[in-house]
Amino acid sequence: MEAILLVGGQGSRLRPLTISTPKPLLPTAGVAFLAHQLARAHAAGVQRIVFATSYRAEMFEAAFGTRAHGVELAYVSEDEPLGTGGAIRNAARALTCGPDDPVLILNGDILSGHDVPAQIKVHKDAGAAVTLHLTEVDDPSRFGCVPTDASGRVTAFLEKTSHPVTNQINAGCYVFRRSAIDTIPEDEVVSVERETFPSLIASGAVVMGYVESEYWLDVGTPEAFVRGSCDLVLGRLASSAMPGEPGERLTLAGASVSPGAVVRDGTTVGRGAVVEAGATVLGSVLLDEAFVAEGATVRGSVLSRGARVGPGAVLDEVILGDGAVVGPGNELRGGLRLWPGIELPPTAVRFSSDA
Ligand code: GTP
Repeated sequence: MEAILLVGGQGSRLRPLTISTPKPLLPTAGVAFLAHQLARAHAAGVQRIVFATSYRAEMFEAAFGTRAHGVELAYVSEDEPLGTGGAIRNAARALTCGPDDPVLILNGDILSGHDVPAQIKVHKDAGAAVTLHLTEVDDPSRFGCVPTDASGRVTAFLEKTSHPVTNQINAGCYVFRRSAIDTIPEDEVVSVERETFPSLIASGAVVMGYVESEYWLDVGTPEAFVRGSCDLVLGRLASSAMPGEPGERLTLAGASVSPGAVVRDGTTVGRGAVVEAGATVLGSVLLDEAFVAEGATVRGSVLSRGARVGPGAVLDEVILGDGAVVGPGNELRGGLRLWPGIELPPTAVRFSSDA
């Protein structure tokens, strides 16, 4: 089976992490985020994947080449971003399957433990044009929602509203009949969510929902990105791509964690990163060469490559860009983001937020 992986977005909500690295390539539990998706796709029977690239397109082929995690890879780039629907149409040029074959389409920023073969079975049994994975959430008002009838057929694609009619939302994994992709206009910016699905439903095409609420997370925000990485390390979602066994922390080769430090709750400590004695690092992502000095506390945060936290500093839900430095005694909380290379002198900040 073939798949298309949508990886061309700018990942603007994750800046500054995505300034130098596209979201799907951000290190997550020790490997590029996409590695987890490739491994899961392979386990679901996918043999070939076409990457639909746009933002920093060249970095994907450099990272994965022509084969990874048991899957053959091809790359199709957009000169201008075509949106989710336009990207699917564009990437379909590189598919080799027949017109009636199912094609799996994956958003490149979703961690999901759902049963992909079961979704494909629903698609085949119904003879559907498209079958969407739908997941149930506690607060659907933050999402568009997708009601289905008793047979599982999607009846509408509704925009965000304060009074959602169902708690089922689009989970960003679709099975398309190959020929249904050709209904998307060519070389145009198209949103699959706002245009393609509503127009397929309006035209009477069979659009099915496969409802399953196994582990599911959209890692598009800093908070969700950190949570996804920690969940993988803790084993809340199994991934054969993770370079180590699940546990309280993942320490990569060449990292140094002092026996006098507390590092847990799914933290990853990257290659060459250092955590000194008396430091506490909880539920965080330390990328390669990051440094946490003695007595510092880091929680729910990302320290990008070479970022440094001085003695006694406190970081709570903070993002440090590449090489950013927090001097001793600072206390940063609540979503603050330091851009690459920024250096905060000692005790410059007691508490701040980007809100
Ligand atoms: P934000 O800028 O933070 O909203 O993130 P994003 O750019 O990734 O957008 P969004 O989360 O809505 O995208 C969902 C998926 O579609 C992601 O895997 C994106 O990489 C991908 N995507 C979004 N727009 C495009 C596009 O124009 N072309 C391609 N090839 N992929 C896209």
